[in-house]
Amino acid sequence: MSQKDIVLTQKNILSTQNQLALSQKHLFFTPQNIVFSCRHIVFFSRNIVSSIPTIYCSENNIKTKAKSRHKTYSFQNFIPHSLIYPYFSAVKKLFLATNYLLYRLKSTSEHGVHSPFVFDLVTNVIYNKSDFYAYKEIEALRTHLLESEKTIEFEDLGAGSLKTQSKKRKIEEIVKYSVKPKKYSQLLFRLVNHFQPTQILELGTSLGITTSYLARANSKAKIISVEGSKEIAAIATENFSQLEIQNIEQLIGNFDDVLPSVLNKTEKLDFVFFDGNHQKQATLNYFKQCLNKANENSVFVFDDIYWSSGMKQAWQEIKNNKKVTVTIDLFFFGIVFFRKEQVKQHFIIKY
Ligand SMILES: C[S@@+](CC[C@H](N)C(=O)[O-])C[C@H]1O[C@@H](n2cnc3c(N)ncnc32)[C@H](O)[C@@H]1O
Repeated sequence: MSQKDIVLTQKNILSTQNQLALSQKHLFFTPQNIVFSCRHIVFFSRNIVSSIPTIYCSENNIKTKAKSRHKTYSFQNFIPHSLIYPYFSAVKKLFLATNYLLYRLKSTSEHGVHSPFVFDLVTNVIYNKSDFYAYKEIEALRTHLLESEKTIEFEDLGAGSLKTQSKKRKIEEIVKYSVKPKKYSQLLFRLVNHFQPTQILELGTSLGITTSYLARANSKAKIISVEGSKEIAAIATENFSQLEIQNIEQLIGNFDDVLPSVLNKTEKLDFVFFDGNHQKQATLNYFKQCLNKANENSVFVFDDIYWSSGMKQAWQEIKNNKKVTVTIDLFFFGIVFFRKEQVKQHFIIKY
């Protein structure tokens, strides 16, 4: 075993009482194999755990072996390949559902908020039910895309999807599973409309639905939106021209490569929407880089802060950052403020 190998033994499996066992290692999948990496939640059904005292997982060469006494088994001997993805996708859903339940128990409405700044934001922006001028045309575009029969093939540079692993995706599926629903897209619109930021960065354009909301909310703002897939970005370009939106600059490439050059050319960032590559280290790297260009009026919005244990940890580290004062947890969105006059405080708001 190489140094990078991870060993899961009965010891680091926390619960063997019922159907589920938990370890603190990450597990990733490819269509062909299982790849273990660090920091993730892994569940094993009881019979698998009891039949395999030690599982050796090689992170680099994408091999997974389970050793029981002196025999070596392929992990796939125990779980049929066709079940691996649905099985772990179900585990992720369980993780999300548990965290959502905890969020609902801890969250409050505006009545539990004593900070005037946050109270105003919750009542006038987050809970604002007005029908803004831009909603109709962008939602009409969403409906149009949902009717699309087109399929595209692309490389997902992020943390993948809970719904599919396929590189071929129908436009309709991208809209359903990757694009923010109306409720959250329109909240982005209201946040930009309220704070009137002029320099906006979005990491994760996809088909351009949220980008369009950001752009429409302040016509004086310049929106830089980055997307890794040129195939998806091309559809976003068509969408922007259909909506006649002109204040968007689209950049194509991996965030890791594009972000440093964007930041080199940008004096300040007033608003950043982090909506791609939902992995702990990547999220923290992007956050730290953008932080250098933030000012005390900047607003950062993080998508899917409970998507995985890694994202949960990233959200915790972001909240703990000394430049961060107020945060608002809406479960699917985490909103971050840097206002110096505010006492550091974290709010969990029902949304
Ligand atoms: C959740 S979607 C964005 C959805 C979009 N903001 C919306 O709601 O309308 C995330 C996008 O980020 C892109 N992405 C993920 N990781 C990336 C990376 N490391 N570099 C560049 N693009 C990436 C994916 O291709 C995907 O289209």
